[in-house]
Amino acid sequence: MTRHFLNLSDAGADAIAAMINDAIDRKAARGDWPRGKADSDAPLAGHTLAMIFEKNSTRTRVSFDMAIRQLGGSSLILDAGTSQLGRGETIADTARVISRYADAIMIRTDDHAKIEEMAEHASVPVINGLTDLSHPCQIVADLLTMIEHGKALPGLEVAWLGDGNNVLNSIIEAAGLVKFNVRIAVPDGYDREIEFVESARESGAAITLTRDAGEAVAGADIVVTDTWVSMGQENTHNKLGAMMPYQVNDALMAQAKPDAKFMHCLPAHRGEEVTGSVIDGAQSIIWDEAENRLHAQKSILLWCFGLI
Ligand code: CP
Ligand code: NVA
Repeated sequence: MTRHFLNLSDAGADAIAAMINDAIDRKAARGDWPRGKADSDAPLAGHTLAMIFEKNSTRTRVSFDMAIRQLGGSSLILDAGTSQLGRGETIADTARVISRYADAIMIRTDDHAKIEEMAEHASVPVINGLTDLSHPCQIVADLLTMIEHGKALPGLEVAWLGDGNNVLNSIIEAAGLVKFNVRIAVPDGYDREIEFVESARESGAAITLTRDAGEAVAGADIVVTDTWVSMGQENTHNKLGAMMPYQVNDALMAQAKPDAKFMHCLPAHRGEEVTGSVIDGAQSIIWDEAENRLHAQKSILLWCFGLI
């Protein structure tokens, strides 16, 4: 059966653990090779990944491109504005056609229903490069980064500050799969989009919803935030004012554990969701987090092709 990666539960806990182990091994094995050189086993030689972007991207775009290259394959990019998708060709027809040329499809889009439709009609793996609902590829990289920085995932206390968005949803989904806890501080009115809470709780994760930023970060191992205004939501009225009490700054970080780490999927808005002093400070692991998108994408691709 074709393996799609639309959400973390498509892979499940065991596969995610295997993906993280594979990413750690491949990262260690590459050493100082030039970025464009293939891994010695080149397991995806001859494979092509088609990437469709209906929203902007830097990390997802570059890391998937380099990931498939390092696995021995290649990628091509379709922008919605210059492909027939932008002129109304259906998702279903696009999926059928690209499946005749490429070996896998990664799509970044708005409505999650679009990626489900793509997967329904594609005969090759479809990967979620971010939708309004979720960002599973980001969270594979985040889990890898936490482990790399000495954090054992079961029982970990993760604090989320700010907007209730797609990245948070995938963190909550991961908490249910890997069994860590999430304390979520989101202002009133901005938690409507939060998903996966019930299923994570049923799986044994403690998911706390609070309006108090200090309560969320007290004793936390990891402090996470993201932009207050996600792509496609730019017209939100007076949101920044409501979000300001949830800014991650030095005073808030001081309430977390002394060895707590700060994470952010990026791009960041310094002075909004996080201060420059935190993002550039000693507790920030954001550059490792960004690098790990590359290593995580490789493990996601290998899982999709049944090689993990
Ligand atoms: N974190 C992330 O997905 O970044 P891009 O929007 O640059 O891909
Ligand atoms: N929540 C952000 C994540 C960007 C990687 C957005 O959807 O714009």
